[in-house]
Amino acid sequence: MKNFLVIFSLSILLISCKSVPEKRTINRGIVSEHAMVVSARKEASKIGLEILKKGGNAFDAMVATELSLAVAYPFAGNLGGGGFMVYRKNNGEIGALDYREKAPQAANKNMFLDENGEIIPAKSTLGAMSIGVPGTVAGVFAVHEKFGTLPIQDILSPIIELAKKGVVVTKKQENRLKKYQPLFKKVNKNSIQFGLQWKANDTIKYFALAATLSRILDHGKSEFYEGETAKKLVNYIQNNGGIMTEEDLKKYEAKWREPIEFRYDDLTVISMSPPSSGGVCLAQIMKMIEPFDLQEFGHNSARSIQVITEASRRAYADRSFYLGDPDFVSIPIKELIDETYLNDRMKLFSFQNATLSSEVSHGNIEIIESDETTHYSIIDQFGNAISATTTLNGAYGSKLYCAELGFFLNNQMDDFSSKPGEPNMFGLIGAEANSIQPEKRMLSSMTPTIVEKKGKLLMSVGTPGGSTIITAVLQTILNVHEFNLSMQEAVNAARFHHQWLPDEIRMEPNSFKESVKAELKSKGYIINEDRSPIIGKVDGILVLDNGSLEGGADKRGDDTAVGF
Ligand code: GLY
Repeated sequence: MKNFLVIFSLSILLISCKSVPEKRTINRGIVSEHAMVVSARKEASKIGLEILKKGGNAFDAMVATELSLAVAYPFAGNLGGGGFMVYRKNNGEIGALDYREKAPQAANKNMFLDENGEIIPAKSTLGAMSIGVPGTVAGVFAVHEKFGTLPIQDILSPIIELAKKGVVVTKKQENRLKKYQPLFKKVNKNSIQFGLQWKANDTIKYFALAATLSRILDHGKSEFYEGETAKKLVNYIQNNGGIMTEEDLKKYEAKWREPIEFRYDDLTVISMSPPSSGGVCLAQIMKMIEPFDLQEFGHNSARSIQVITEASRRAYADRSFYLGDPDFVSIPIKELIDETYLNDRMKLFSFQNATLSSEVSHGNIEIIESDETTHYSIIDQFGNAISATTTLNGAYGSKLYCAELGFFLNNQMDDFSSKPGEPNMFGLIGAEANSIQPEKRMLSSMTPTIVEKKGKLLMSVGTPGGSTIITAVLQTILNVHEFNLSMQEAVNAARFHHQWLPDEIRMEPNSFKESVKAELKSKGYIINEDRSPIIGKVDGILVLDNGSLEGGADKRGDDTAVGF
């Protein structure tokens, strides 16, 4: 690796940052011997862990954690959304599940444009037209059917109990609920439970959701896609001006996909394939930075930021042009992650100056995606690992809440490019490959990832953050592998992001050295510390040398790691 380094003098090597981490005290997150669950809420992590303690495996715990988040974290956890999961079994077998939403059959390319071909503001983000056909219930049943070991009753019962007993509001949740009140009022014809003035330490009980989950327990997946729940849901969406039909729900299927797998130094990284852009982009960025010695440059130094920024710029440019639903568009994945191609992409990079995004091909396209997703990681006592990211897209999705069923509906239709070349709500620009078609899945940035080192399980990691997901996952892996941070330190560390367009480095405010920012500015980089107060809420688990597990639960949220 990093052949050109040999030209550095011995003295430089002796003072390099490489030696620093070995001397410092490492601050670890919680460490457990056998198994661990890390998610956005303590209640969901605990239910996942209880399933493991009962003898269930990581897949049983995935079902439990995913559905518990629908109760405990309605901001992004869901029945009305979708997600992706990557797994690695204890025998080394890997795979991925796509339970992403898809466009209803009545959707069409111009559905968010007016008669002049201009985007109708908020139509793809608020209310019933923004809803994609939900995939979460199909996803958890696909996982349980293929890998589950405990009866579904054992998994769902504690979640139904939690919904009835209620979940205590945290300070962060109080703030979020307050912030979205005006939109809840705007979108919903009647006032909703979430529209009340909830304060920290109040308890919200979810009886309607408990009833829906009970029916799902009694009748299985078909309850959601063909049963009473399906009928009520479609009726509700159509009464609010939406186009989803019973046929749309009936036809929905979660899909097993081959994950993206690539090498970086002595790591093998396994991540999500299209219709998520996560794995392909992560592979592109990591392969582009692999020849550079980040350890030598130092953590969050100007040089490290420059290399990662330039690789990200190029990867996000490709993302915009090439990526979409693989069942609808042909994606040259092999070519996009080919080493020669990627070395060539970096040929014009120089440490002297920033590359301009307008000079990087496949331009004129920006990207915007929601940062209100959620991620959880699980490693079980048998050595199986899962990494799953799930979302309603925006905070509380479309803000349309079906009170009778007890859940919010996604606004995932906004992840399509409504008008190729125009940014969506998070600034991402898309091309034809991600245009709307009936039954197509919208492009995602979700990057649930598992890392092996020398053939052994090393890490399960992921994050919310829309377009910033990929760079947040990247930096967390590098923080551990290159900079020797513990899992918790890697998750806590300040993050930055570049996504080709807009041509700026987003930085978490007041987190980077003034000298680093000044150096980057002097080379022509634009730094924006206003756009993203936080970049991602990363949750991960690291397998330590002695086989025990360290959790990294992001301090930016209410995230919690639990283990035994
Ligand atoms: N809706 C966010 C994502 O899929 O990346």
